Amino acid sequence: MTIETQADVEALKTIGKIVAETLKLMMTEAKPGMTTKELDEIGKKYLEIHQAKSAPKHCYNFPGTTCISINEDIAHGIPNDYVIKDGDMINIDVSAELNGYFADTGGSFVVGPEIKKEQALVLKATKEALQNAMRVAIADAPLNLIGREIEKVAKKYNLKIIENLGSHGVGRALHEEPGFIAPFFDPKDKRKLKLGQVITIEPFLSTHSTEALECSDGWTLTTDKGNFAAQFEHSMIITKKYPIVLTQA
Ligand code: CO
Ligand code: CO
Repeated sequence: MTIETQADVEALKTIGKIVAETLKLMMTEAKPGMTTKELDEIGKKYLEIHQAKSAPKHCYNFPGTTCISINEDIAHGIPNDYVIKDGDMINIDVSAELNGYFADTGGSFVVGPEIKKEQALVLKATKEALQNAMRVAIADAPLNLIGREIEKVAKKYNLKIIENLGSHGVGRALHEEPGFIAPFFDPKDKRKLKLGQVITIEPFLSTHSTEALECSDGWTLTTDKGNFAAQFEHSMIITKKYPIVLTQA
């Protein structure tokens, strides 16, 4: 969507804060010995208290409230009986709707005190990719600058990009115009960012894989065995300067 009124901004900020707080709470509460279903319950309760509806559940019939993906699984993981253990790399993605407005956020982390070098690298680089991409997301700028920045950071750290997972428009639906925003530089993409446009930016960087494949459960997007990938995602409003970040806890 493109914002038209101050009421649009306020409504987006409200749902943005709720999803960001849900993500923060779930990241804090994720402990070894807990199942991903139990972790999802924590997010479910928090969204319910704030009258927000899980977007994947209500829009796509996703069998869970939030998406929880472990290790080589990197997106759309179904909360289930998997028991979380120290050293697991977890991605949680929270998107929800309130009063017809949607926000989407996500983040990756490692459970426990020990982080492998490769995990730490991929976390640091992906955060940097998000930050750098947000800096070039300015009204009237070419949309493909987002992918260009992500690609620059991936190259700097000698990491790969999951090329089939992109950023997207958000606001009045979970996924909307301008559609898929490539996580790499696409010179053929001539679209420009618009003032007031609401989008996500969500790079997925990885150690080996460049593609996420759907599992037989019809949801989980996975990469090669032993691959480490991370994602960080914010929803934001495009302005003439730095975007207004909606998904802040
Ligand atoms: Co998301
Ligand atoms: Co998203």
